[in-house]
Amino acid sequence: MVNIAVLGYGTVGSGVVEVINTNHKSINKRAGAEINIKYVLDLRDFPGDPVQDILVHDYEIIANDPEVDIVVEVMGGIEPAYTFVKRALESGKSVCTSNKALVAKHGPELMEIAREKDINFLFEASCGGGIPIIRALNSSLTADEIDEITGILNGTTNYMLYKMSTEGSDFDAVLKEAQEKGYAEADPTADVEGYDACRKIAILSSLAYGKFLNYENIYTEGITKITPADMAYAADLGMSVKLLATSRKIGNDSFYAMVAPFLVGKESPLYSVNDVFNAVFVHGNVLGDAMFYGSGAGKLPTASAVVADIVDEAKHLHRNIMTNWTSRPLELMDLADVEGRFFVRVKEATVAQVEEIFGNVQIVNLKQFPGEFAFITSEMKQGEYEEKVKKLNGRVITMIRVKD
Ligand code: HSE
Repeated sequence: MVNIAVLGYGTVGSGVVEVINTNHKSINKRAGAEINIKYVLDLRDFPGDPVQDILVHDYEIIANDPEVDIVVEVMGGIEPAYTFVKRALESGKSVCTSNKALVAKHGPELMEIAREKDINFLFEASCGGGIPIIRALNSSLTADEIDEITGILNGTTNYMLYKMSTEGSDFDAVLKEAQEKGYAEADPTADVEGYDACRKIAILSSLAYGKFLNYENIYTEGITKITPADMAYAADLGMSVKLLATSRKIGNDSFYAMVAPFLVGKESPLYSVNDVFNAVFVHGNVLGDAMFYGSGAGKLPTASAVVADIVDEAKHLHRNIMTNWTSRPLELMDLADVEGRFFVRVKEATVAQVEEIFGNVQIVNLKQFPGEFAFITSEMKQGEYEEKVKKLNGRVITMIRVKD
């Protein structure tokens, strides 16, 4: 028997209990042992819920019980999750978590403790909800030098952008819907400002490139400035607006990473990733292109990924299996040197003025927006774009990058 303790009985924690109860036969078979939920830790009581019988309010009970083999951290946030997880690992208990904030901030240290103790710290559910992307990067794509990861990594914002573009939904109303469906973070600012996607691309990049990418170094822009007018232009261009989290290797050892809204054309496999779905596009030097797609947020998809980690840890109780992440820092190049195309909406300007500054551009005029037009630049370095756009002197309404 493998005893587990689940820290947190919220959306994901209750999903973990539900998945283990629903699929216990096949899960036990795959784990090669009976997975027994010995404790659930939460500050609240749940009268009438079967979990009440195994509910504890004090972490000491779990920390001091040598029968607990695996601690499942699904509380979210940095504290007390970090303290609880570190203590569990130090006392030889494997840990799995859905907590991207914890992994992005303390991943190298926690993984190092797990390595020293020959146990595991796994975090499949921290990125891409139910998509098994961490496992793919750690143990499947091992023949490749990966040079790009571009993902739609936040289900809440993808759901919002989709509803806003297809149903004309209002930003606040559709955010509320995403919260009700259990997609959004406790503080949804992390979703809409891109912080959640930023932590996820930091985790995926660290695994893919084998060095630690500090999320605080990643340029991050959310979707709060995206308007229905931007979406109308995108539709006219046959494109969609997506919040992309991307990192790329340029040349031998230069990297950049960013999170921002992008205009994505129909030729990209990311164009049709809609609703709460996530997708992670990976390019490897021998593999070429691959894309991983699936449910990106919500109770059961996330719980599915957590339980997969529990099974892996039960199968490898005394063998560390997470290999490709070191504490060596991954340095990022200046974004000013990164090339791209830029979609720009301007007011009180003329096409001639724009062409004088930017040269040949693609012009978009929409009748419903008199007094303004939009243009797409040719490819140029971001620094060059910023220099040029200064000459438009306050006449820019918005700029959205274009995904090539
Ligand atoms: N708030 C996150 C999202 C949950 O919307 O993607 C899954 O990590």
